[in-house]
Order: sequence, then C-alpha cells, then structure tokens
Amino acid sequence: MSLNIRILEAEDVTPRYVAWLEDEEVKRYSDNQYRQVTLEGQYEYVRGCLANASKDLYGIFDAYLHIGNILISDLDSVHNRAEIAYLIGDRSYWGKGAGTFAIAEMVKLASKQYALNKLYAGLAEGNIGSRRVLEKNGFMLEGRRARHLYYNGVYSDQLDYGLLLP
Ligand SMILES: CC(C)(COP(=O)(O)OP(=O)(O)OC[C@H]1O[C@@H](n2cnc3c(N)ncnc32)[C@H](O)[C@@H]1OP(=O)(O)O)[C@@H](O)C(=O)NCCC(=O)NCCS
Repeated sequence: MSLNIRILEAEDVTPRYVAWLEDEEVKRYSDNQYRQVTLEGQYEYVRGCLANASKDLYGIFDAYLHIGNILISDLDSVHNRAEIAYLIGDRSYWGKGAGTFAIAEMVKLASKQYALNKLYAGLAEGNIGSRRVLEKNGFMLEGRRARHLYYNGVYSDQLDYGLLLP
C-alpha cells in the first residue's frame, strides 16, 4: 500500500465515492444514514468545503485510488482547536491500517500546518474501530454524552475524545 492524504478536489467525486456513502456498513455510525447522497450533492459538498475557511476535507488514497476521507472542521483561531471526522469508505481497506494512518497524518498537519493546540472527535459508543484508531493515535477519552446519538433506530452514548498537541 502507498497511503497518502491530500485536499479533496471536485474532480475526485466519482460514482464509486458516492457508492461508499450509501454502503449500510459505512454509514452505520454516521449522519450520512439520514442523507440522500447524489453525485451532484457530493460535488456541492466538496466545493463547499473548498470555499469554507473553517474546514478542510482531505481524501485518503492508496497511491491514486480514493479509499476514504478525513475532515478537519470547526477550525477555531481563538482556542486553536478543531474537530476531526473520518471514514474509510472502501470496505476492502478496513482493518489494514488506513484509518490509523490518516489520523496520524492529520495529527502532524494539525501541529505543523494549522498550529493547533488540540484536536477532538466524537463517536458512537458501539463504534469500536473508531475508538481504536483514535486511541492508537494517543487520543484520550474526555467524556460521555448520554443518549446523544440516534443511529439505526436506537439511541447511543457519544464518547468524546481529545488529543493535546505538543
Ligand atoms: C472506523 C474506521 C475509520 C477504522 O478504520 P480502519 O482503517 O479499518 O482501522 P485500522 O485498520 O487502522 O485499525 C486500527 C485498529 O482498530 C481495529 N478495528 C478496526 N475496525 C474494527 C472493528 N469494526 N471492530 C473491532 N476492531 C476494529 C483494528 O483491528 C486495529 O486494531 P489493532 O491495532 O489492535 O490491530 C473504519 O472502519 C470506518 O471508516 N468505518 C466507517 C465510518 C466510521 O465509522 N467512521 C468514524 C465515525 S466516528
């Protein structure tokens, strides 16, 4: 594998990318389960991210193959913190280290490029893979919001993780 991340461009929006967002397993712990995903809608979303100074959307690639996304958002220049959210949309890449890699790359960018003090992320309690990729990158559990999320017809607690940057 030759994993890398870079800013996602409108030309990266393909039917393949839209198909992962419709994959039941991929959207199991995501608000995407409430969205109607279309090619045109994804173009708009990517263009919106490119035009928005408070967020940057990166694609995760194996060489040139787009396999997932990682978003840094709510970039806050007062508190110098931001939120991250990520998905490996191509399920053939699950469990191969791509999620861990993408977060590690974002942690480096957060320090060097964005000069942040802190990154944070929230996830549904049952999302074990998402917990693991954060913990492997040094994120610490900071809190639990009871019945904060409603996915797949059930409420679940949200776990909030944070990473203090050097
Ligand atoms: C969660 C997600 C990002 C994990 O990415 P990944 O590339 O498969 O994770 P990695 O290969 O880097 O795995 C890291 C560790 O987590 C473990 N892991 C990954 N998915 C797991 C799962 N579903 N259940 C249990 N452990 C899991 C791996 O075995 C590995 O453990 P190890 O270090 O002890 O060997 C990916 O499954 C995904 O995109 N899911 C759908 C979208 C999503 O839930 N995004 C997060 C929303 S908060």
